[in-house]
Amino acid sequence: MRADHPYAVRHRTHLAGSLRAEHAGTRVRLGGWVHRRRALGGIVFVDLRDRAGLVQVSFDPRSAPQQMIDAAAALGAETVVLIEGEVVARPENMRNPELPTGDVEVRAASLRVVGPAVTPSIPVARGKGEVLPAEELRLRHRHLDLRRPELQRNIILRHRLMQATRRYFDALGFLEVETPILTKPTPEGARDYLVPSRVHPGEFYALPQSPQLYKQLLMISGFDRYFQIARCFRDEDLRADRQPEFTQIDVEAAFVGAEDVMNAAEGLVQALWREGGQEVDLPFPRMKYADAMERFGSDKPDLRFGLAIEDFTEAFRGSEFSITRDAIAKGGRVRGIRIPGGATLSRKQVDEIEAAAKTLGAAGLLRLKGQGGSLEGGPAKFLSQDAVTRLAVSDGDLLLAVAGPDHISSPSLDRVRHEVAARMQLVPPDTNAFLWVVDFPLFVRDPKSGELQSVNHPFTAPHPDDEHLLEKHPERVRSLAYDVILNGTELGGGSIRIGDPRVQSRVFELLGLDERTAEARFGFLLEALRAGAPPHGGIAFGFDRITMLLAGAESLRDVIAFPKTTKAAALFEGAPVAVRAEDLRELHITLDGGAV
Ligand code: AMO
Repeated sequence: MRADHPYAVRHRTHLAGSLRAEHAGTRVRLGGWVHRRRALGGIVFVDLRDRAGLVQVSFDPRSAPQQMIDAAAALGAETVVLIEGEVVARPENMRNPELPTGDVEVRAASLRVVGPAVTPSIPVARGKGEVLPAEELRLRHRHLDLRRPELQRNIILRHRLMQATRRYFDALGFLEVETPILTKPTPEGARDYLVPSRVHPGEFYALPQSPQLYKQLLMISGFDRYFQIARCFRDEDLRADRQPEFTQIDVEAAFVGAEDVMNAAEGLVQALWREGGQEVDLPFPRMKYADAMERFGSDKPDLRFGLAIEDFTEAFRGSEFSITRDAIAKGGRVRGIRIPGGATLSRKQVDEIEAAAKTLGAAGLLRLKGQGGSLEGGPAKFLSQDAVTRLAVSDGDLLLAVAGPDHISSPSLDRVRHEVAARMQLVPPDTNAFLWVVDFPLFVRDPKSGELQSVNHPFTAPHPDDEHLLEKHPERVRSLAYDVILNGTELGGGSIRIGDPRVQSRVFELLGLDERTAEARFGFLLEALRAGAPPHGGIAFGFDRITMLLAGAESLRDVIAFPKTTKAAALFEGAPVAVRAEDLRELHITLDGGAV
């Protein structure tokens, strides 16, 4: 190979973005992308970009031949070049404090174009205040979008968080074990992605929704402490904080109780936040599920602001106000939020908040304003003096309430809390409110079918104090599950698992699985549990969510190198796609509508 062939030499001595004042006087070789180019008084300046950042390279007629200056002046954006030159300190008045390399520039002595670039479909360099192209366009041209310094930073942070996770668990004696991607369906509440088997006609694998059963099997096999940075797949309707394929930090340990898992999990959160440059105080406060639902209407309460829900039923009891009277007669309650200073919200703002509450089933919002020592608003004239005293709405305050069953008032008031906090700017910036939600119920009853469903998943252990209720009052049984919440977002969740195969079988029965079905679907778990199972439990964190929060990104898509859209499409490579008829035939698949 010729010595000057681009593949023959060691191109770089430094990363462009790593040059600092201490490098002045050093001869460097750099390789990177032309971020921006401009000419000033016969000198051509190129901002050269690589993974570490940008550095200004100057092509000056006083030190470089005119031919090179002309070549530099003709460089198109995003062209890949090799540059050799000397790092020089910039004169004081030419320094750029906004650029980490802003104290220096590289005076070019040679220039080679090694990767000519067509005009980029979307710009990589962006001026101050210039808005990003539409996200669809950016996802379509992901190779260019990923060159943006913001996305580079996010993906690098993701790597660092992954390594911090490995260091943390390795130091605690956890083993990293990979579990299969072609699996048997595990219920985590979402639909499975199915993979047809060619060699077993008509049979399918499922992509894992989580490694749940495998990690339990590892405990039963004696591995004692496991973790994995695990890819999970869920075919569910997507929102900004969900992806069809996502990553969990998945953890399981044997001979542990809930406290042990929660301690280890808090330590991980602290280590990750530290890697992200933030300190976190331990331990996290805990809240029982029932209290979270009662006071915040949600099992993921955002505790950065107040606005707790209160029960105002007694004040309204006996009043002739038909909305509250009817709701109470049907066994419902009047619950609401007292908003200090809320009288400043305009009628239009309260209408918007009401519209949001209605999307969650509330018929409307009752509004009461404290004014001049009395109450104003629709229900006010139906209230006795005693009731007004009970409500204790101070001057300038607003009370917004929902009358009805809890399953409507809870989600509606949760929404009201957030809508009010946003409009009154009650969410303090740069605050982290972590908490554990504990004592979840083991089951909920489906309001339509009346059937029991697992709140967590069917392998979650019942609370030992409630096991006696399993037969007569299963919906009153609490579980040994715990969720870790930050600012209203669920970072992770887990539980102590059922270790007794008889209890596991009984839970399957309560969930409506007859013995045959339970054996067919989970026989391998029951068999393993019968083979000598230690007490065990664990947790899984949403790794993408954690990275998004620490990167200060707004969407999971900004911390995943190749994400899917909300319609589960990969726009860059173009997936999913139709496949050839013969490929389907080999998989023993025919399509509805005769596409094959
Ligand atoms: P769970 O279903 O609660 O528990 O998932 C754990 C965490 O994973 C994250 N997560 C998601 N992140 C992005 N996109 C999604 N579609 C998505 N779905 C979930 C959340 C969530 O808290 N096997 C159990 C854990 C256990 O019991 O140990 C499980 O998967 O942050």
